[in-house]
Amino acid sequence: MKNNNDKATAIILAGGKGERAGGNYKQFLKIGGKPIIFFSIYEFLKSQLINKIIIVSPDEKIKYVKGLVLKFFSQRTIEVISSGNTRQASAYNALCHIKQGIAPASYVVFHDAARPTISENMIGDVIREAISYGGAVVAGKATDLTLVVEGGYIRRAIPKETAYCGFTPQCFRFDYIWEAHQKARRINLLGSADNIELLLRFSKKCRIKVVESLVPVHKITFPHDVVIVKKLLKN
Ligand code: CTP
Ligand code: MG
Repeated sequence: MKNNNDKATAIILAGGKGERAGGNYKQFLKIGGKPIIFFSIYEFLKSQLINKIIIVSPDEKIKYVKGLVLKFFSQRTIEVISSGNTRQASAYNALCHIKQGIAPASYVVFHDAARPTISENMIGDVIREAISYGGAVVAGKATDLTLVVEGGYIRRAIPKETAYCGFTPQCFRFDYIWEAHQKARRINLLGSADNIELLLRFSKKCRIKVVESLVPVHKITFPHDVVIVKKLLKN
């Protein structure tokens, strides 16, 4: 990146309700007195490559999130905006917010608030790779046999050499991810699973490099994941 304006903007996705974990806004559950989202914000604030943090939150939690930002960080570089109905819509809201801002960053780093075990190094690695390739995603080699299942039947088994699990953080050139979201919206595709799906389908230019992590960047999905993440954060 050439100058300060070229630093990446972080988008922390905290706009879900956490239905599979019991509908309790898992991203704000407390571990050691701190809400889960705290750990991600903390690592992003450490990174010299980040110019701004945008937190995407459900409307009913915006006041609460602003309060915890003030309590734990008292930072002016953190903004809190409204989420959408899907993860894709939440990501798009953040991209629009950046597009409308003064001197928008050339790169964006998406991160799930429900994945608290990231590190500043990981953030730096995805940003550096995205600068070289257009996009980069933290992923880990799948440790179990990965299957493609349709209607309850196995259609395909993915050879273990090529099977990975995609995590966040993920970093993309702003213009590539913006274009991919725009094209998806034009054909009314609004509930895609991830930015990667949109880029693979709608961007000819973006190559997405894998930043391999030997340990999974564990996501809280079900209630038992809270126990796992608690243990991981203690290490
Ligand atoms: N997310 C978001 N906006 C949405 C949905 C999800 O910002 N409309 C965020 C979540 O807050 C979470 C991340 O995307 O940090 C990963 O999504 P997921 O694990 O699916 O979280 P939820 O959608 O909250 O959980 P569930 O699907 O079980 O309801
Ligand atoms: Mg979800």
